[in-house]
Amino acid sequence: MRIPKLLQAVLVLAVVYFGFIVVFDVILEQVIPSSLLAMYMFFVVAGVFMVFTFTDAGARQLAAPIKALVEDPSRRLARNIVFVILPLAAGWYAYEKMSPSFEAPVELRSIHPAPPTTLKAYGKSFDIIKMENPFRHLEKDKPDEFRKRVSEGAAVYIQNCHFCHGDKLDGKGPYAQALNPVPANFQDVGTIAQLQESYLFWRIASGGPGLPKEAAPWISSMPVWKDFLSEEEIWKVILFLYDYTGQRPRSFGGDHG
Ligand code: HEC
Repeated sequence: MRIPKLLQAVLVLAVVYFGFIVVFDVILEQVIPSSLLAMYMFFVVAGVFMVFTFTDAGARQLAAPIKALVEDPSRRLARNIVFVILPLAAGWYAYEKMSPSFEAPVELRSIHPAPPTTLKAYGKSFDIIKMENPFRHLEKDKPDEFRKRVSEGAAVYIQNCHFCHGDKLDGKGPYAQALNPVPANFQDVGTIAQLQESYLFWRIASGGPGLPKEAAPWISSMPVWKDFLSEEEIWKVILFLYDYTGQRPRSFGGDHG
């Protein structure tokens, strides 16, 4: 049995569409803007249409099921159903797009939103609840080596973070004035002192774009550091943040969960 041309065309479009989603979402782990996807699909539809209608016979075969649906007296029921459902679906879609939403606007920005349970970065999946700073144990086991990691973390900080978070880690870097929300002030007890190292890892690796909805409506300028720093560099800069400010990371089993 041969697959009808129209179905072939639809299948090709579906494969390309899901292909885009797989490439962006799964392989590149990037969100694809819907407008960009719409633009790609526009060209794909145009291309598929050109290929399928290249010959007269091809064009006729492609149109045959549609023509039959409209003209064939025996398809009356199917025709009526399609001509009722299509306009209804289009009307419903337009209504959904235009009608205002009654969801209450999120007014207060949650500064420390709950993290997701897993973080995808560096080609693997991290369990945010369980992961620990791989260098933290050195503090007790090998203090010399620990100092070395802290100073490597300081170098990462000065090269990447002080522009916003300040050379005294007080959130007053040269760019800070222009940013809203303002960069975190790590000296303040309201920031890293309240947080676990794994939480910081998540925030640093996925930055402002990785924040969930509750952290809206402001748009954080915090960069997505997993694109620029290695996993080890992030853990080392975390050591430095606590070391410099004299804070201790919060650990699980603390008084408020
Ligand atoms: C372009 C400016 C900018 C740079 C550069 C920057 N940050 Fe940020 N960062 C911010 C802003 C703004 C916030 C506050 C909004 C938010 O939480 O996303 C923030 C928040 C954070 C937080 C969350 C603190 C909390 O209390 O939740 C951490 C941790 C952090 N930054 C670490 C870093 C580290 C480490 C670097 C360098 C590798 C860095 N940042 C570089 C702008 C920046």
